[in-house]
Amino acid sequence: MSQTRRDWIRSSSLLAGAGLVLGREALALAPAEAAAHLAPRGADGRIRMAFNENPYGPPQSAREAMVRYWSEASLYMPAGIPELQQLVASQWGVPADHVLVTQGSSEGLDATAATFARGGELVGASPTYDRLLAYGEALGASVVTVPLDAALVHDLPAMERAVGPFTRLVFVCNPNNPTGTVVDSAALEGFCTRVAPRAPVFVDEAYFEYVEVPGHRSMMPLVVAGHDVIVSRTASKIHGMAGLRVGFLVARPALLDRIRPYVMGFPNAMAVRAAIAAVRDSGAQVFVRRQNTASREAIYRALDALRLRYVPSQGNMVFFRTGRPVTEVIAGFAARGIDVGRPFPPMLDWCRVSTGTPQDTERFVAALRGVLA
Ligand SMILES: Cc1ncc(COP(=O)(O)O)c(C=O)c1O
Repeated sequence: MSQTRRDWIRSSSLLAGAGLVLGREALALAPAEAAAHLAPRGADGRIRMAFNENPYGPPQSAREAMVRYWSEASLYMPAGIPELQQLVASQWGVPADHVLVTQGSSEGLDATAATFARGGELVGASPTYDRLLAYGEALGASVVTVPLDAALVHDLPAMERAVGPFTRLVFVCNPNNPTGTVVDSAALEGFCTRVAPRAPVFVDEAYFEYVEVPGHRSMMPLVVAGHDVIVSRTASKIHGMAGLRVGFLVARPALLDRIRPYVMGFPNAMAVRAAIAAVRDSGAQVFVRRQNTASREAIYRALDALRLRYVPSQGNMVFFRTGRPVTEVIAGFAARGIDVGRPFPPMLDWCRVSTGTPQDTERFVAALRGVLA
């Protein structure tokens, strides 16, 4: 039995055991186990494998931090922001004034689009997580999309060729959503250093903490070196806080000063305290990463058994070829109580499924053959 298979069975029984423990007793578990026990389930019992959420939710340490700092709920300007800025800055090796804390990374994406979009072009891949591009388009920018290459990886040479005199910003999602693919770090560093003098490069690293490719690197060192590169991170994925809304932009202070006027608000004080605890909670991150890998591999095995094509993913999702309209596949899963990802044009015969708990994944795997029959 492979290591992964053993881990999978061990984690499945761990969760089954945790499921017998109720309420306060769960708090006595190690943080990661308690987080697993308290995993949110759809009230209607549906399986959520649609939104690249972390099915374990915030770690117990984050839940406790929100209670401990509850009195800060009465304050404007969350008191924890400087601490959170300092904490992530020291973990990521950037100065604290290079970090802007936002309401989820979505707010940072939107504010960046608003800063750079008007009267020009935005360049990005297709398909990708297109929030920044779509927001920019709504503000009047034209969007130039460059298809992923045959391996469903960002085609950096083609993207570089697409940068022209009207390009205002280039968007790179790494790992990419929906494919989970990563670009080679050295190639992306070269791309950023050549392109950034012509237009800032935005690198969305929402799934960075899931990546298992040896030598995979963040683009933050380029920010510190003074390049016009903007990196985003989020507490929504590895830290399981999608509903609490904390994200980060990392850029030179002069660039952040241009973006800041377009930021709509400020994060929730409790969410900031939760994020401080979650970022410190390396045990919970190890747990989530391990569970994510196990779910991904179980999904691969099921796809392999049906000879369905997929690209190995470095995120918390798997993108696989359905060979038929994905809308039918989505409906087929929905009828079995499982929600999978939306269509990603132009790849309309591919489906994105987010990873889940062992039980969620088992339900997905059991339904797969029937849906595709
Ligand atoms: C690549 C990517 N970036 C950003 C986000 C937005 O995340 P949030 O606003 O919760 O930080 C998502 C959400 O799925 C995503 O996939």
